[in-house]
Amino acid sequence: MRAFVKNGDVSDSRHLVKFCCFVAPNLATVLERSPDFPASMKRSLRPLFSLLVLAVIVTILSCRTAVRRSFGAFQLENGVSMKLALPVFNSTLLKNAAIDMGEAHVKQEVEQLLEGNFGSAARGRSISSWQRSHQFDIRSRPSSSRIPAQLRSPRYYRLWSEFRKVLRDWFRNKRYQPEIMSELIKQVKRPVDRHYGLADSDRPYASCAVVGNSGILLKAEYGEFIDSHEFVIRLNNARIEGFQRNVGSKTSISFVNSNILHLCARRNGCFCHPYGEKVPVIMYICQPVHFLDYTLCNSSHKAPLLVTDLRFDVLCARIVKYYSMKSFLDETGKSPEEWAPAHDGSLFHYSSGMQAVMLALGICDKVSMFGFGKSVQAKHHYHTNQKAELHLHDYEAEYAFYNDLIERPRVIPFLSDKFKVPPVAIYY
Ligand SMILES: *[C@@H]1O[C@H](CO)[C@@H](O)[C@H](O)[C@H]1NC(C)=O
Ligand SMILES: *[C@@H]1O[C@H](CO)[C@@H](O)[C@H](O)[C@H]1NC(C)=O
Repeated sequence: MRAFVKNGDVSDSRHLVKFCCFVAPNLATVLERSPDFPASMKRSLRPLFSLLVLAVIVTILSCRTAVRRSFGAFQLENGVSMKLALPVFNSTLLKNAAIDMGEAHVKQEVEQLLEGNFGSAARGRSISSWQRSHQFDIRSRPSSSRIPAQLRSPRYYRLWSEFRKVLRDWFRNKRYQPEIMSELIKQVKRPVDRHYGLADSDRPYASCAVVGNSGILLKAEYGEFIDSHEFVIRLNNARIEGFQRNVGSKTSISFVNSNILHLCARRNGCFCHPYGEKVPVIMYICQPVHFLDYTLCNSSHKAPLLVTDLRFDVLCARIVKYYSMKSFLDETGKSPEEWAPAHDGSLFHYSSGMQAVMLALGICDKVSMFGFGKSVQAKHHYHTNQKAELHLHDYEAEYAFYNDLIERPRVIPFLSDKFKVPPVAIYY
């Protein structure tokens, strides 16, 4: 099992150990060392003594169970439980990885949006592009107009209240709750299956391919192999035309970040479907204001347009930050405080590929990864001429995470011990 460390869990379980190891045995010792008791008194005390011993045993047993639950036992396939040396998580690292540096900023942004305050220039721009692309003719209105001034339009009013509702519902889930991994079937697989006319089932897909966008895809012809998976996830609308021999042609779901949808939302009918408009899209939200794009596009989208649960985002963020900090500290010998300036602190984010892999872990029995990793000979992306990686991601840290997924998933922090990581393979 994996260690499962919630906020404060480490110290809580330490208290528990203290209680079990010191209080309970002391009681037993006191009872044993009572030579002065007359024999008759000993006899008359015997039932009481037995009761006390029983109580002690029960206490010890229940403490053991509790300690085992927080520290770890390993459940073998055949149900035999045995203790294994568990990975030791560095609590400084766990604590620092759990800090969300952008939290205050996002909270403020959400609050402002809910109040109808689209203050900054950037937001103003996205509102006006939103209006332009959706036939709200801004030329006939004062150029400074913003949404709240136009609430008299019934269509605007409906979108506006929907926007506020989805934003509020989304933000309400902002917390660390690793059990979210077990909800992905319900949240993602079921709506996708319904859309494809498949029977409603809680069974994961037999096999999934997650297709990253690295140029290494051009070095092998995995197209047919990729298409042979039951479920194929592609990232950020990467083009497949002309690359089918390398990347395949089947797409079950398109996983994107909300910047992609934001760009598409400027086009008529949110048109942005390189895999066909029947392919469901799932995205994580980069900026809360992108719910405007979501609200608008969702109403005209022919396939499900899903937004990742914030609990899922929080989990992914913590895992990647943990790996990033760990390698930073190991390599530089610096302090955790120095990690943020080196990694764009509040802008730091996991990549779409990482979250797509996490999604696959939750909905598949077997996961194959393609197009992850880089090589000096290969292009950065198979389909673009982008030269370098974005600084706000730490791909090295993500590769270390994938490596653990494949070789020793137990050492991955923040996952719930109830969650069983399916077999993962990576193809170069
Ligand atoms: C945890 O990591 C920090 C930062 O690298 C280090 O200073 C500390 O000694 C580590 N603690 C343990 C118990 O290994
Ligand atoms: C998005 O659209 C679908 C289909 O029209 C609808 O069922 C769903 O409730 C919408 N989602 C939100 C959050 O409004």
